[in-house]
Formats: sequence, structure tokens, C-alpha cells
Amino acid sequence: MMGSKAAIFATAVLAVLFSAPALAQKSSPPAPAPVSLPPSPAPAPAPHYVDLAELLSVAGPFHTFLNYLEKTNVIETFQGQANNTKVGITIFVPKDSAFAALKKSTFSNLTSDQLKTLLLYHAFPNFYSLAEFRNLSSLNPVNTFAGSPYTLNLTDDMGSIYVQSMWSRPKIASSVYATKPVAIYALNKVLLPMQLFSKDPPLAPAPAPAPESGASDAPSPAAGKAGGLNGGKDDSTSTAYKAGAVSVATSLLLAAAGCLMLLW
Ligand SMILES: *[C@@H]1O[C@H](CO)[C@@H](O)[C@H](O)[C@H]1NC(C)=O
Ligand SMILES: *[C@@H]1O[C@H](CO)[C@@H](O)[C@H](O)[C@H]1NC(C)=O
Ligand SMILES: *[C@@H]1O[C@H](CO)[C@@H](O)[C@H](O)[C@H]1NC(C)=O
Ligand SMILES: *[C@@H]1O[C@H](CO)[C@@H](O)[C@H](O)[C@H]1NC(C)=O
Repeated sequence: MMGSKAAIFATAVLAVLFSAPALAQKSSPPAPAPVSLPPSPAPAPAPHYVDLAELLSVAGPFHTFLNYLEKTNVIETFQGQANNTKVGITIFVPKDSAFAALKKSTFSNLTSDQLKTLLLYHAFPNFYSLAEFRNLSSLNPVNTFAGSPYTLNLTDDMGSIYVQSMWSRPKIASSVYATKPVAIYALNKVLLPMQLFSKDPPLAPAPAPAPESGASDAPSPAAGKAGGLNGGKDDSTSTAYKAGAVSVATSLLLAAAGCLMLLW
């Protein structure tokens, strides 16, 4: 008697045990099982936060610009604006080669306030998509982050957007990142406002002694075209963005693995 009861009980227990995985399998797909996986690096922490320093350090090369931003702490100003998700920020980032093309004294002669101004001159305290620049060009001159006398003119030339400062007129070479609230566009030249470089334009065509590459940066239409040729094929689309996608994929994989292990 006892023996057969025990046998029945054991059979029942076994049946439950064996059917449990089946049940779990049936019910688990819709259920977000990985609740019990604590440190999985968040698929969605703060959707709008973009770490500018990190982005600029992996895209580019924009090391020169990033170094100046960090040295002057302007990176904090930019990041604060980027964090302000209502209006956002647009930053024009000259490539390392653009800085290399300038006279060495161009920056060493600036006071630290002037250097800050020059960096702020490379941004608008608003997010602008490329499409919005077309409209913006009717408002020329446009105030930069550096404040009222420091303006830029934007022109749309057959679909290419040119950014005009006093001594350079680079074309937007590529869009590094353009998701509200942060827009970052790469330039092949540094923007040089008249207010900082009125007396000694750092890129004035050299009379002859030193036929440096600086000559090609004169603000002539030809210079604009040269910049365009350089920039045309340039496709340095956000490496950071891709890295982000990879890490999301990785965490999805981890989550999936977690599910499987739970089922097991
Ligand atoms: C921007 O936001 C991030 C994430 O919320 C925060 O860690 C950082 O300190 C903020 N930076 C500034 C300059 O506001
Ligand atoms: C930088 O300063 C030096 C010495 O004061 C001067 O000779 C030179 O012309 C200046 N360069 C620029 C680009 O202002
Ligand atoms: C540009 O302006 C036109 C007319 O004012 C408007 O219809 C369009 O939506 C604007 N485009 C952008 C991207 O702001
Ligand atoms: C920008 O455009 C305004 C108005 O068209 C013009 O007066 C100004 O000289 C331009 N500035 C530059 C840097 O080209």
C-alpha cells in the first residue's frame, strides 16, 4: 500500500519535473526573463545622452580639436548644451589635417579667452540637421555659440553646405553624428573669424618664400572647390555610433544567453 502510494507520488513529482521545462519554454518567450540578470549593461540608460568627448575621440581623427576643447574646458560648455535636450547643439569639427595646415603661431599667439572664443565659434547653441541649414542660410549671418559679433554664413551650393568665416570657407565634409539633440559635422578647414585674425590672417597666400599648403585656404571660390574635392568622398560616419550598435547587439546576445541558461 505505502509502496504504491510512494510510487504514484514519485511518478507525479517526476511528471511535474519533466513538464516544467516544457511549461517554461511555452510561457517564457513573451516574458522578459532576464529580470534576474542584474548588471547587463543597459539597453536604454538615458536615450538622449551623447558623450561628446567619447564621440570625438573615436570618430575623426579630431584629436587636435578635442585637445583644445579639453584644455580650455569648452568641452564642458558643449556637453552642458548637449545635455540640454530641448535645443541641443551643432558643432563643426575641423579634422587634424585642418589644424596641421595652419601656421604654428596661429594658436600660440591667442590668449586663453581668444582660444575659447575660437572654439565656441565652431558651434551653434542649437541642433540643426543638414536640411535645416538650407533654411538657415536665408538668415545669414548666423550667430555662433561665441556670441553676437562672431557669426558664420551658410550657403547651399547645389546641395553642398559651405560654412563661411572670414578666412576660410570649408564645405561640410561629412556628418559625424546628427541625431537630435547633437549634430557634429566634419570640416577640412578651421573657421577663422575676422575679430581674432584681422591683422594677420593666418592663411593669407604666402608671397612666395614658403609655398605652404596654407595658400590653398584663401577664401576664394577656388579654395572652396578644393575643399569640396577633398571632402567629397569623405565618409567618416560615426564610428562611435557603430560601436554603440555593437554594444547593444552584445547586450542583446547576453540577454538571450541569459534566457537560455534560465530555461536550462
Ligand atoms: C551631462 O549629462 C551626463 C549624464 O546625465 C552627466 O554625467 C554629465 O555630468 C552632464 N554634463 C554636463 C556638463 O552637464
Ligand atoms: C605671433 O606673435 C609673434 C611675436 O609676437 C609675431 O611675430 C607673429 O607675427 C604672431 N603671429 C600671428 C599669426 O599673429
Ligand atoms: C524650410 O522652410 C520651409 C518654408 O518656410 C518649410 O516648409 C520647411 O519645413 C523648412 N524645412 C526645415 C527642414 O526646417
Ligand atoms: C555674411 O553675409 C553677410 C550678409 O550677406 C555679409 O555682410 C557678411 O560680410 C558675410 N560674412 C562673411 C564672413 O562672409
